[in-house]
Amino acid sequence: MVYPIKVVGIGPGHEDYLLPVARKAVQESDCLIGAKRALELFAHLGKPAYPVDKNIARLVPQLKNLRQKYRVAVLVSGDPGFYSLLAFLKKHFSNADLEVVPGISSVQLAFARIKETWQDARFTSVHGRTLEKLLEEIRPGQTVAVLTGGKNTPGAVARFLAGKVPGDPRVFLCAGLSGPGETIIETRLSRVDQELQNSVMVITYEA
Ligand SMILES: C[S@@+](CC[C@H](N)C(=O)[O-])C[C@H]1O[C@@H](n2cnc3c(N)ncnc32)[C@H](O)[C@@H]1O
Repeated sequence: MVYPIKVVGIGPGHEDYLLPVARKAVQESDCLIGAKRALELFAHLGKPAYPVDKNIARLVPQLKNLRQKYRVAVLVSGDPGFYSLLAFLKKHFSNADLEVVPGISSVQLAFARIKETWQDARFTSVHGRTLEKLLEEIRPGQTVAVLTGGKNTPGAVARFLAGKVPGDPRVFLCAGLSGPGETIIETRLSRVDQELQNSVMVITYEA
């Protein structure tokens, strides 16, 4: 028996935002793979847990091996369809090999916190990516939600955009969403110098 690999979205971090279907998928799995923070959420289940390190290539033989015998859940933050390991896994496994369990994305919670609609927003990530592409997303009259992280903190994004975007766009910084240190800041791009980790930066460039 070769089991499908479940890619489970665990939401922004707090168990209140974990969907019942995701909880069930984790409970039904024999072992868990994910970032340390994701694994901690399920430590009480006492299942074998394998942290994903920076060398994600190692994940492929590990999963190929584990799924021969075990039901494996790969835990990703937020929703799997939005900047997660799913993109990498799809290069190495067929759709039939994968099951995807949705989760509440950090951007959904960010827009709920700032009480804004997001149907017309644009979305991008600068976490582990270059900042140049961000310029293509910032357009007059539009809101863009940017996943920041690593060296590309909100402060780094603001320094990069300084002088490249007319006016002084409104910015919401939404950091550590659903966690004990959740921080929501409304400000202007010129005042952003926060080196926050794990944050969504919502930039509105008024026309
Ligand atoms: C690899 S991406 C994962 C995105 C995830 N799939 C989602 O739907 O939210 C990691 C980035 O998501 C954002 N993120 C994830 N969890 C967050 C949280 N609890 N609060 C704020 N931002 C978060 C941060 O921008 C972080 O750098």
